[in-house]
Amino acid sequence: MTAEELLAEADAAATNAYAPYSNYFVGAAALARDGRVFTGANVENAAYPLGVCSERSAISKAASEGLKPGELEAIAITASPCGGCRQWLHEWRFDRVHFRRADGTVATYAPDELLPETWDLPEE
Ligand code: THU
Repeated sequence: MTAEELLAEADAAATNAYAPYSNYFVGAAALARDGRVFTGANVENAAYPLGVCSERSAISKAASEGLKPGELEAIAITASPCGGCRQWLHEWRFDRVHFRRADGTVATYAPDELLPETWDLPEE
């Protein structure tokens, strides 16, 4: 599946966003190594900080279906991922992160390029 095809799935997912406060609709589509695609959209809340980003929504869908870090290959997002989501992208060990820049071009990075010297929980 190409970056453009995965981004098209993210665009479709964005239409399901629940974003009555920001009116900013974001979609994400995560491609599993077995070929399945898990989509997500941002889900806001009247208590604003409780809202969930589209990336975390897509990853949570995959996690709740039994997937573990390393089993998701790529993710496409309709906007640049926020700082908190970059930590999630690191945790889930995607090979590739595609997102649409504000100017409409598509960027592709490895998660650790998006969050250098990333924090990990120290092993005991
Ligand atoms: N948002 C995402 O879904 N993903 C990001 O990485 C950036 C921000 C959402 C959260 C909120 O619902 C809206 O965009 C405005 O911040």
